[in-house]
Amino acid sequence: MKILAIETSCDETCAAVTQGIDVLSNVVWSQVDLHKEFGGVVPSIAKRAHEEKIDFVIDKALTDARCQMLDVSAIAVTVGPGLAIALEVGIRKAKELAVKLNKPLIAVNHIEGHIVGPMADSNSQFSIFNFPCMALVVSGGHTELILVEAIGKYKIIARTIDDALGEALDKAARMLGLGYPGGAELEKAARAGNSQAYKLPLPMLGRENQNEFSYSGLKTAFYRLVNPPGKKSIPDLAACFQDRAFTHLTRVTQKTLQHLGSNIQDLLVGGGVAANSELRKRLSGLCERVLFPAKGLYGDNAAMIGIAAGFKAARGEFIKDINLVDRLPRWRIDQKIDW
Ligand code: KG4
Ligand code: ZN
Repeated sequence: MKILAIETSCDETCAAVTQGIDVLSNVVWSQVDLHKEFGGVVPSIAKRAHEEKIDFVIDKALTDARCQMLDVSAIAVTVGPGLAIALEVGIRKAKELAVKLNKPLIAVNHIEGHIVGPMADSNSQFSIFNFPCMALVVSGGHTELILVEAIGKYKIIARTIDDALGEALDKAARMLGLGYPGGAELEKAARAGNSQAYKLPLPMLGRENQNEFSYSGLKTAFYRLVNPPGKKSIPDLAACFQDRAFTHLTRVTQKTLQHLGSNIQDLLVGGGVAANSELRKRLSGLCERVLFPAKGLYGDNAAMIGIAAGFKAARGEFIKDINLVDRLPRWRIDQKIDW
């Protein structure tokens, strides 16, 4: 069963064709250049760019997969969480196609996409998860530990009480005058730095068992360290921030895994920040298997949405009333929808 998946939850216009966990095509049109000068995603610009590019990415996804619209058995779309007016563009297009082609529609949670991302074909040795497993989603908008009892059965175990990890890395990079988006730039700068060069506190030290992540205190401390700008070394500052941010993340993750005991064998990691090689190194020892998405599937993409939709299709979770389908900007992965 081929699925055409559409994803427009943030600043990437994406379409993909998937079949089970096989990715037949995966097209990502990044809007980074449009948002760069503002230092963050501007929703109205994102919406307009999605509208301009959506037909192009869908056509390309079909061409790359060597198939036509008629070969597709279902249409999948991200309905949340994400930016409301950005989500709307993908939802409108998916509904339009589903009606025009008389195909079923599948609504997908963006976070579920990041969770199943490591299953994608190019990573097939990891295609079978040992349930229950733990998922860690680290992106610009999310920092969450989720217990995966089965595909489709999720419990949020820990989440950030303020900033997301990616958001914090982006803000720190901005304070250092590095480029946007900041996570990757900060990683580059940090490679040449000494993470112990400056004093910078660890978030929630000694309280890692509270099932919470927090990055706003670290951000404030970093602001004080960086300002007023003086002779401090940018690589050292970058390395210090990254070190504390990742140490906090791994400590909470480790505590949570310890607490749940030895029946958790797999840790699945997804989201844009998982592209960071230092973070991947630190997470690698935390569980019997630590599974990452294939290269190119860390950040937002529609292939992961198509894979999640494939599992929903197998469970018969198609949209019953297309008129009810609407954007869910704050959709929690543990909330069921009844459309
Ligand atoms: O998953 P994603 O593409 O979009 C959201 O759903 O938010 O994640 C974007 C986030 C940004 O904060 C970006 O700075 C971060 O992922 N990121 C990185 C790296 N590449 C992207 N963070 C750290 N190191 C990287 N190499
Ligand atoms: Zn994402």
